[in-house]
Amino acid sequence: MPERHTSDVLVVGGGLAGLTLALKVADQRSVTVLAKRTLTEGCSTYAQGGIAAVLNAEDSYAAHVADTLNAGDGLCHTKTVEFVVARGPESVQWLIEQGVEFTRARAHADPGDYHLTREGGHSHRRVVHAADATGRAVQATLEQRVKSHPNIRVLEDHIAVDLITTQKFGLAGPDRCVGVYAYNKSQQRVEVFGANTVVLATGGAAKVYLYTTNPDTSTGDGIAMAWRAGCRVANMEFVQFHPTCLYDPQAKSFLVSEAVRGEGGKLKLPNGDAFIEAHDARGELAPRDIVARAIDYEMKRGGYDCVYLDISHRPAKFIREHFPNIHQRCLQYGYDMTKQPLPVVPAAHYTCGGIMTDLAGQTDLAGLYAIGECAFTGLHGANRLASNSLLECLVFGAAAAANILAGPQPVLGAVTDIPSWDESRVTDPDERIVVSHNWDELRRFMWDYVGIVRTTKRLQRAARRIDLLRDEIHEYYQNFKIGNDLVELRNLVVVADLIIRSAMQRQESRGLHFTRDHPGHDTLAPTTDTILTPANFSSSSLRASA
Ligand code: FAD
Ligand code: SIN
Repeated sequence: MPERHTSDVLVVGGGLAGLTLALKVADQRSVTVLAKRTLTEGCSTYAQGGIAAVLNAEDSYAAHVADTLNAGDGLCHTKTVEFVVARGPESVQWLIEQGVEFTRARAHADPGDYHLTREGGHSHRRVVHAADATGRAVQATLEQRVKSHPNIRVLEDHIAVDLITTQKFGLAGPDRCVGVYAYNKSQQRVEVFGANTVVLATGGAAKVYLYTTNPDTSTGDGIAMAWRAGCRVANMEFVQFHPTCLYDPQAKSFLVSEAVRGEGGKLKLPNGDAFIEAHDARGELAPRDIVARAIDYEMKRGGYDCVYLDISHRPAKFIREHFPNIHQRCLQYGYDMTKQPLPVVPAAHYTCGGIMTDLAGQTDLAGLYAIGECAFTGLHGANRLASNSLLECLVFGAAAAANILAGPQPVLGAVTDIPSWDESRVTDPDERIVVSHNWDELRRFMWDYVGIVRTTKRLQRAARRIDLLRDEIHEYYQNFKIGNDLVELRNLVVVADLIIRSAMQRQESRGLHFTRDHPGHDTLAPTTDTILTPANFSSSSLRASA
């Protein structure tokens, strides 16, 4: 295999956002898709509940927009919300045309008559799904399409390390992104991927927390790379904690879908008492931030390890039909949800903030797009409405693709001048313990100090620790050869820093950001996004010999 690769479009990430874009440009552009593990190992595959879209006559765009704005607690960009909601039906239709089979309303229902489930914050049934494993059905279909497309090359086990820009490397022309350096895990070397257009579709950063519903891929790589390349990021303080992750030592990050509450599941204390209505009149279907906080409050008040989610009052046949995957997985851990409540706890689930983009997915850097969970489009505001994320991946995958195709035909001018990765000044790591220790330390203090309930003191403690870790990891990165874990840790410390800094700037409680020191909205200051701009960008952390 060569150490230098070129294509018109380089997509970093094989989740729903990346695969949508790849398929939409591939008839007219050559495409390379990089994925740091297998193609579909990312959040999209694990999505359960479904995709929110207005799909029946009783629902309306106005209602979907209103629910999204309401969940977002004053910070959604209305134009973005309207843009996304209006493209919901055509996005779902595109998936159907690719071959995704969504659950029908009844056996033998007419084509197009899909079952719509309900989730927190939605005023209507509007979530189309493939039983309770929607992401798996969508990803399997798109993976097959992408891998059989003659113009798409898929490279798994390649982890992007840094973006390559003309300015950083003294290449000719105005500043733009011309590729990435990526670590090829099987060859154990860093290769150059030049491209006219680079698309970050790397997903979120929930692995920055000790407990998360996310797979190991969610380490915020795209956000950190874009930040290092000079792009602004916004609203990183808004980390969504899903209320119901199965509480069992064997069940690493297994989610129990919000659709279980949508279909009648009740949250209970260990003594069997229901408690959510005491916190919010909407009960189990209140927006996620409220439900997660209520659980956190009750667990701390009562000293409980978990609370319980009980749907056993519904017929066993209904539960098995609607939640076959969850039912089976829980049985493996010894819980029969048709007969007993499930132990659950909140866990970090979704990164609402990210790389700032416009409505075509374009970032601050020419030639660089960001789509999906790594992007900040203004859709989610201070709290994402359930099942709006897969929708965002589809809408912005398509919008960015249209923008790329409308641009000039690719000229890969600067690519041949890109310097190779330089390892002449680094050696093999001598103390891998530094990496594993710092992974654990970072994720634990983020959970303890920057979690569901924050205080100024806790944030200050976290900021002091980040300063130490950042220096230590930077030094290690400068001196030793890289591998997957080091690349991810280097990115995690950047996103943790961005989350803490953003949280310290927001001197109020809003949506997912709750601080005991400012428990209400700040009614005096204007309601604005938290925008961070990279200052004093230094190329000292780059290895290539420019
Ligand atoms: P991902 O699907 O996470 O894909 C990211 C890709 O980037 C992966 O292929 C990864 O390997 C790759 N990658 C990352 N870094 C690098 C790198 N440095 N180099 C190369 N490749 C890299 N949302 C909904 O709307 N509805 C739901 O029902 C729903 N259920 C969910 C259930 C669970 C358990 C979880 C965790 C999330 C759920 N979400 C749901 C959220 C939703 O799944 C995600 O927000 C969405 O799938 C993100 O898609 P993405 O394409 O942006 O990223
Ligand atoms: C779920 O099924 O509860 C997850 C839905 C989402 O995160 O949007």
